[in-house]
Amino acid sequence: MQINSIILAAGLGKRMKSKLYKMLHPVCGKPMVGHVLDLLDGIETNRKVAIVGNGADEIKAYLGDRAEYVFQAEQLGTGHAVLQAKPLLEHEQGMTIVICGDTPLVKEETLKEMIRLHLEQQAAATILTATMADPSGYGRITRDDQGAVAGIVEQKDCSEAQLLIQEINAGTYLFDNQKLFQALNQVTNNNAQKEYYLTDVIGILKAEGETVMGYNTSDPAEAVGINDRIGLAEAEKLMRERILRHHMLNGVTILDPEQTYIGSDVEIGQDTVLLPGTVLKGTTKIGEDCVIGPYSEIEHSILGEGVTVRQSVLQEAEVGNHSHVGPFAYLRPGAKLGEEVKVGDFVEIKNATLGDQTKVSHLSYVGDAVIGKNVNIGCGAITVNYDGLKKHLTEVEDEAFIGSNVNLIAPVKVGKGAYVVAGSTITLPVEEGDLAIARERQVNKSGYADKLRSRIQARNSK
Ligand code: UD1
Ligand code: CA
Repeated sequence: MQINSIILAAGLGKRMKSKLYKMLHPVCGKPMVGHVLDLLDGIETNRKVAIVGNGADEIKAYLGDRAEYVFQAEQLGTGHAVLQAKPLLEHEQGMTIVICGDTPLVKEETLKEMIRLHLEQQAAATILTATMADPSGYGRITRDDQGAVAGIVEQKDCSEAQLLIQEINAGTYLFDNQKLFQALNQVTNNNAQKEYYLTDVIGILKAEGETVMGYNTSDPAEAVGINDRIGLAEAEKLMRERILRHHMLNGVTILDPEQTYIGSDVEIGQDTVLLPGTVLKGTTKIGEDCVIGPYSEIEHSILGEGVTVRQSVLQEAEVGNHSHVGPFAYLRPGAKLGEEVKVGDFVEIKNATLGDQTKVSHLSYVGDAVIGKNVNIGCGAITVNYDGLKKHLTEVEDEAFIGSNVNLIAPVKVGKGAYVVAGSTITLPVEEGDLAIARERQVNKSGYADKLRSRIQARNSK
């Protein structure tokens, strides 16, 4: 069975009152139109045609080759939008899915059920409908005496009685491709908004004696279409709840779902515990038995098993099994921690690899570095990686000991098992097994403390 799809994404999204095109506003961290493409990817469609107009360049840049594009120069309505795909699809057979780019909550199971119903009934069209407590803003589904779908009436064209109908058009449809384009040719703009409505196709097909099915979803959340920021917040809340439920059903403990935010592409292993204030974004993957939070933000990062992250921020970082991060650590892009590593409080790691069992326990900056296994980096020790023009590499080999408050002035290398004495500023290589000391010798002046105090007093009383 040939299945093609058309994504309607040319509208301005005027009601959003935004500099960002509506389709690109994120829901749970992903542009709404991205969710629609994800849905279609799950269906294995043959061709995906996105109708673009406002923000066409930005939408194309975001979706790339995930779709073919047709430009709708003037937004004359959803029917007119679909008609733009005619040159690409008019010779295709089979089924065409039409979906609005502003309805990111439609579920894959639902679309699959719709397809099943559509084929079983040999329908010309199948509409996703939902029964809404507050149907305002949506097209209403009219049904005949037998309960079959008769048509869709846009809110602005509704009679008083029709306004009371709670079954609405979710904006997702399946059509027999040939019948769709044939019916679209007959759509006029004779309505309150002077637009060519896709929804009029339903009445036209009915008048021709075709079968039109309504698939009423039991989950009205699916039908939420985002037209303004209120709809955006509603969609965000509904999708967030859906994502949280998915992880909880997979065996993740979420102590306070109200205070936990998880992006739609995040993966989390079983028996991991998320404490309040956890924000997981992008392509983050977390293994089993981890404890994350409280108050931690992790983006595009990969964590192994049994990792703990407390009050910390991680971006594009990797953390090996049984490592500990935080409290108050900052792992920046390119931070790669091996297994059983400890990165403690007020430590920043950037573009640096830390071998297994290495410890950077407090108050350090490690940037542009390759640190071996079982290395100890003392409190306050830092890599001095930037000379004002370029970044330079610091290498520390296995088992080395870097004392507290050491400056490693890159490029520099400390050999295996070497010992760098606290307070040293290291500018030259330290060979394997050597001890490096690079600081002023201490001088003690016997009994001088009181002398100094009286001198200061005398000066201050002048
Ligand atoms: C539309 C439906 C309505 C349904 C609702 C579901 C019509 C006439 N109405 O109303 O029955 O309940 O969706 O959310 O179809 N678009 C274009 N080109 C255009 C016009 C619109 O590409 O010329 C795109 C928009 O970018 C949007 C989608 O089509 O993604 C729907 O348009 P919108 O103006 O949001 O329609 P609604 O008023 O929400
Ligand atoms: Ca809409």
